[in-house]
Amino acid sequence: RLEKIWLIVGVSMLIVFLGVIGVGAFAMGMQPPSGHQHKIDPDKVSETAPFDKPGLEKIGDNEYNAVMVAYTFGFNQEKMEVPAGATVHFQISSSDVVHGFEIPGTNVNMMVVPGEVNHLTYTFTKPGEYLILCNEYCGIGHEYMSTTLIVK
Ligand code: CUA
Repeated sequence: RLEKIWLIVGVSMLIVFLGVIGVGAFAMGMQPPSGHQHKIDPDKVSETAPFDKPGLEKIGDNEYNAVMVAYTFGFNQEKMEVPAGATVHFQISSSDVVHGFEIPGTNVNMMVVPGEVNHLTYTFTKPGEYLILCNEYCGIGHEYMSTTLIVK
């Protein structure tokens, strides 16, 4: 008789346990994507908006979108040029591994994660030549990863 009770207790616990897992999985599946990042397929970055049209785009009064893709050995943008005082919205993704995106001398510093759109906005008040670097060790191409933004 005691055995039967324990069997019932055991089965009930198993059912509760499975139920919790099921509800948890369901809740996770239902979770809306977090506001700032939408997921993209890293293998199809160059076919996915906005990365299908990379580069600098003027979107307002001295305001620009800079759409870029990081990959081992570089960024897909050669020298970019904006006027002094320009506000630039960087949108960047990676087509392979995790990279960094840093502009020394500014507070622009973010991780570039494959499958995510990473973004950051900066206003370049001082003219000059700004180096854009990868600051996350990403393999043999790491030291070659740089490009330039010119602020005139
Ligand atoms: Cu990319 Cu280091």
